[in-house]
Amino acid sequence: MKRPCVWKMLMAAMCVALLSGLQAQDLPRQVSIILLGATGDLARKYLWQGLFHLYLEEVGKGHHFRFHGTALTSTEQGQEVIAKVLESLSCPGDMASGHCAELKAQFQQLSEYRQLKTPEDYVALSKDIEAQVEHEGLRETGRIFYLSVPPFAYVDIARNINSSCRPGPGAWLRVVLEKPFGHDLHSAQQLATELGSFFQEEEMYRVDHYLGKQVVAQILPFRDQNRAALDGLWNRHHVERVEIVMKETLDAEGRTSFYEEYGVIRDVLQNHLTEVLTLVAMELPVNVSSPESVLQHKLQAFQALRSLQRHSAVLGQYQAYSGQVRRELQKPDSFHSLTPTFAGILVHIDNLRWEGVPFILMSGKALDERVSYVRILFKNQAFCVQSEKHWVAAQSHCLPRQIIFYIGHGELGSPAVLVSRNLFQPALPSASWKEVEGRPGLHLFGLPLSDYYAYSPVREQDAYSLLISHIFHCRKDSFVTTENLLASWVFWTPLLDSLAHEVPRFYPGGAENGQLLDFEFSGGHLSFSQPLPEQLVPGPDSAPLPSDFQVLRAKYRESPLISAWPEELIARLAGDIEAAAVRAVRRFGKFHLALSGGSSPVALFQQLATGHYSFPWAHTHLWLVDERCVPLWDPESNFQGLQTHLLQHVRVPHYNVHPMPVHRRQRLCAEEDQGAQAYAEEISALVTNGSFDLVLLGMGTDGHTASLFPQSPAGLDGEQLVVLTTSPSSPHRRMSLSLPLINRARKVAVLVMGRMKREIAMLVSRVGRDPKKWPISGVLPDSGQLVWYMDYDAFLG
Ligand code: BG6
Repeated sequence: MKRPCVWKMLMAAMCVALLSGLQAQDLPRQVSIILLGATGDLARKYLWQGLFHLYLEEVGKGHHFRFHGTALTSTEQGQEVIAKVLESLSCPGDMASGHCAELKAQFQQLSEYRQLKTPEDYVALSKDIEAQVEHEGLRETGRIFYLSVPPFAYVDIARNINSSCRPGPGAWLRVVLEKPFGHDLHSAQQLATELGSFFQEEEMYRVDHYLGKQVVAQILPFRDQNRAALDGLWNRHHVERVEIVMKETLDAEGRTSFYEEYGVIRDVLQNHLTEVLTLVAMELPVNVSSPESVLQHKLQAFQALRSLQRHSAVLGQYQAYSGQVRRELQKPDSFHSLTPTFAGILVHIDNLRWEGVPFILMSGKALDERVSYVRILFKNQAFCVQSEKHWVAAQSHCLPRQIIFYIGHGELGSPAVLVSRNLFQPALPSASWKEVEGRPGLHLFGLPLSDYYAYSPVREQDAYSLLISHIFHCRKDSFVTTENLLASWVFWTPLLDSLAHEVPRFYPGGAENGQLLDFEFSGGHLSFSQPLPEQLVPGPDSAPLPSDFQVLRAKYRESPLISAWPEELIARLAGDIEAAAVRAVRRFGKFHLALSGGSSPVALFQQLATGHYSFPWAHTHLWLVDERCVPLWDPESNFQGLQTHLLQHVRVPHYNVHPMPVHRRQRLCAEEDQGAQAYAEEISALVTNGSFDLVLLGMGTDGHTASLFPQSPAGLDGEQLVVLTTSPSSPHRRMSLSLPLINRARKVAVLVMGRMKREIAMLVSRVGRDPKKWPISGVLPDSGQLVWYMDYDAFLG
């Protein structure tokens, strides 16, 4: 008897629940937007306008809105500020003024100011929102908290939002954060962990306003819509280099308390320029409208970035900067800042698409113009027979071929996408992009504007408006996820650490900078093109580091000597080897390098392996100067050392590596196996005139070099190119290039390091040519150059 009744009651209850559920579903939806820091600079300049824009876009599409401007400012003062800001809001140019006025009045009605300071204020805000929603018969679908506040306030605010201001069940929460997101990897991690204890990842929207710039937001759609044309071009075979640039005319005056702590790399390179870099470099997802795929591909691009070295950067500081810091931060007259206001960085990406392509990132304050752009310059191997006057922009292979994402300002004055006409005619969505009108006389990146297909947005939109709309539409790919943020800091932090004491080059600012900041890259190193002018700015802790001293240049045994502290010396030698390689490959298509073994070159190998991005390894032949008669896999083998410290880190084609054949058929270095002859034949077959481009030697404490030992005549003269020798120390059997062969080289570098070498270095500096006693003294290239690289310990003791 009981059961049907219970059943009925249950059914009735379910119906009521279902009905009320359905009713709730049917209720008009409301989104509340709470702007914290609503009276601040950013909010007044951009955020209120962005919110108004969102309202204009979304009104009548099924959502009701409420806008709560909040700050620490008292209610009265805040209301006053907000009233003024709301009054100044503008509609898009093509909207009828009557309609604009009507919508603006509605927006003003829906916006209020309130003080948000204490935990109770948050509770009250939440209650008020709930009451208002209920009162108006709406259903709350979500809350957006936009934190336009300094980051030190994030954690408190986050705690308050989480504990008392989350919307009810079924409604979403989005929390928007403004940079800086940390100062380095550690602080970014810390902040991320703290925020992560209050919010889910999908609830956080970290803003990088460059991702809201129309042209930046167009990079992926452009790549997607022009896949057919770009597929074959967007890679190392065709791209010469990529430049990602943000130049500013303004300086940091008025912001030095922030700037002093951050500097240009943290302020714009770590975020804006890196974001742009990933959009250019990432593999294009099949579906570019899928935020998840975009974010995942972006992360992969981060993972392929090659670590930066100290020499990947050039730094500058405009001359007035330290004075501004002293004034604004009340520092003593003796204070000199080392904070860079200008940086050029060379980035390489280690994947098949981009290997070897330089990505140049550059930004600076107090430069000659304000402009931001990405320039993708394509390689050009064409030679045009007809004279220039017959070149036709659309067909000539001789004109520069480039794609420019012109982010803004500059001579063009507006954002644009430019594709040189000799590349292809790009497709851009015609509803939102129009062809740029001709501007006779305007030249951009070496071409008249008319040589480009040029498109600009039909309606220019400010970055924040776009981002606010993307927050509303849940477009997470326009924001910086925790993973991406940390990946970026992983990339930048080691460089920032290594540059912490670097004295920047000082520049006067504006047009007066002339060529002072021009820089160039050779191998993996960036350096200013002009030599350093006199500058006397010792920085706050002015005790110079050993590495601050100049590399000493002198003569040793009548040949050039370079002397420095070990680290500097190795860097210099590696740079010189790379320069020789680049020159040789440019002239002859290949570079023949003969390397010694032992412990001194290990640091050099490591430096070459990790720090030399543009070394032409693919065209380099590696030879051994000498070898111990042990199997090639033996740890004592010179080849093993080369393999461990260099070969396994670089991509030298296997057939370009020439180990010495110490182990052929019989015993190790058996005369009858004719290994030395075989090596000599290989050299003769591949190295023109047996003249290596560069031979790297060392000097033993007994004056030996290669495996040519005192009192042992083998290899000191005669016809033989490669010889078997006997070493006084084990393993005794050796194979070595002969002195005559060494002396045929175009360049011989002798690396001598450590206090142990001091005595022999002194001795050899005084003796004449007597290779039987001191084989090293027999090194004097017939027509090539000899350079001695000695560290201070070896040279000065
Ligand atoms: C900000 C930096 O993020 O970007 C400023 O903090 C810089 O130093 C600004 O001036 C540049 O942005 P935009 O939009 O003017 O290129």
